[in-house]
Amino acid sequence: MPSVVSNETRARTFYIETFGCQMNAHDSEKVIGTLQHQGYTRIETEEDADLILYNTCSIRDKAEQKVFNRLNDYKKLYKQGKRFGVLGCVAQQEGEKIFERAPYVSLVAGSASYRKLPEMLAQLERGEQRITGLDDRQTEETFETEFTARSNPHRGYITIIEGCDKFCAYCVVPFTRGKERSRASTSVLAEARRMADAGYTEIQLLGQNVNSYRDLEGKKTFAELLAAVGEIPGIRRVRFTTSHPRDFTQDIVHAIDSVPTLCDHVHLPVQSGSSRVLHMMQREYTRDWYLERIGWIKSAKRPISMTTDVIVGFPGETPADFEETVDLLGEVQYDGVFAFKYSPRPNTPAITMADSIPDMEKSARLQVLLDRQREIQRGNYSKHIGEKIEVMVEGHNTARGQVIGRTSQNKTLNFTTKQPILPATGNYLKVRVTNSFPNSLVGEAV
Ligand code: SAH
Ligand code: SF4
Ligand code: F3S
Repeated sequence: MPSVVSNETRARTFYIETFGCQMNAHDSEKVIGTLQHQGYTRIETEEDADLILYNTCSIRDKAEQKVFNRLNDYKKLYKQGKRFGVLGCVAQQEGEKIFERAPYVSLVAGSASYRKLPEMLAQLERGEQRITGLDDRQTEETFETEFTARSNPHRGYITIIEGCDKFCAYCVVPFTRGKERSRASTSVLAEARRMADAGYTEIQLLGQNVNSYRDLEGKKTFAELLAAVGEIPGIRRVRFTTSHPRDFTQDIVHAIDSVPTLCDHVHLPVQSGSSRVLHMMQREYTRDWYLERIGWIKSAKRPISMTTDVIVGFPGETPADFEETVDLLGEVQYDGVFAFKYSPRPNTPAITMADSIPDMEKSARLQVLLDRQREIQRGNYSKHIGEKIEVMVEGHNTARGQVIGRTSQNKTLNFTTKQPILPATGNYLKVRVTNSFPNSLVGEAV
């Protein structure tokens, strides 16, 4: 195998850029930690790095095209002896085709193969070309490392379940991230305890479908694991995302009711308010079935904030179907909606259906939905005026003299304080809400 990189110029610094969801963000933290453990130093400039990594997302739009454009922009740097690696969902989706279109790329690896990263890095250092990690989607193993380089010292992610077995008609995730596989609860709890010992107060449990969790050791249900993380001394907030309606059980609400550290927020993607469209999407639940779960959340002892994801313009979605989705927003009274125009994706079942709704119509529906939701949020957020709410300090807006806080319900609360020194990030304090907008609250520290 010809070597293009001599020992003297061996890659030792790396640059990484991350696209996509929280799972990808957290994967990157694990990848960074693994590289650092192998002796690499992370730097912030592509120009100066020996190894450039893109951790990619392919959930919507022409994601793969964006990655190729990006690589193309930086290809001139290759001449200086740099190596390029493509990680994540586009890597898994496009596979070795990436080497054909961008021959200067040396490494293409999907998330199911990251536990083999040290091996792949060794290959890279030996100067090998066309290194792949693409054949692991059927693995039962998860990517666990003690070297995770978390970007925030106060709140951090823990992935408890990887992959997805649900195969919704529109979605690439089962193809890019592979088979659903959970970690052992003892391993999750050990990691959470290590984080608490290191000073973390907020933990966010992650999974494409976090509540589909099945303890590898059979010791704990998802709700029991949630409660156990919430009971670790030092942990003040526990979040979890994303919950799938099919696996949403009432004991999750009971856990939130009985463990005060579990945050008052559930993200429960509905995708459509029309049972007909849900059936075409292969979501395997109906509008009523979904609303029953919302009913459980609404009957909790403390108010739980709800957010969701919606797709507009799925093939065959009629104006009446769309109206049902808009109507559902009013019925549930969400505090936040992530809405997307349907985007046909390679390999998915829906790719064979005609993408029947013109883009202009999709945009128009999206706008109607977002306008309706804005009004709902205006009402919901204004109800907090006068309340005293605990926030975790997340940052500062020095130009405005404001502190940026986050509530247990996952709402942004910007506030002022009479103290001469602004509270540092990671602090918890009580704030009285004085004003509201559709996406944030305003207040004064008490
Ligand atoms: N596992 C989660 C969703 C993960 S993907 C669940 O099932 O609820 C995040 C969101 O991206 C989805 O909820 C969906 O709203 C959106 N999405 C996924 N594929 C899409 C596509 N092909 N077009 C548009 N939006 C899509
Ligand atoms: Fe995609 Fe459906 Fe799996 Fe969610 S449950 S990741 S939408 S296939
Ligand atoms: Fe994107 Fe893959 Fe996450 S497609 S949304 S990075 S699972």
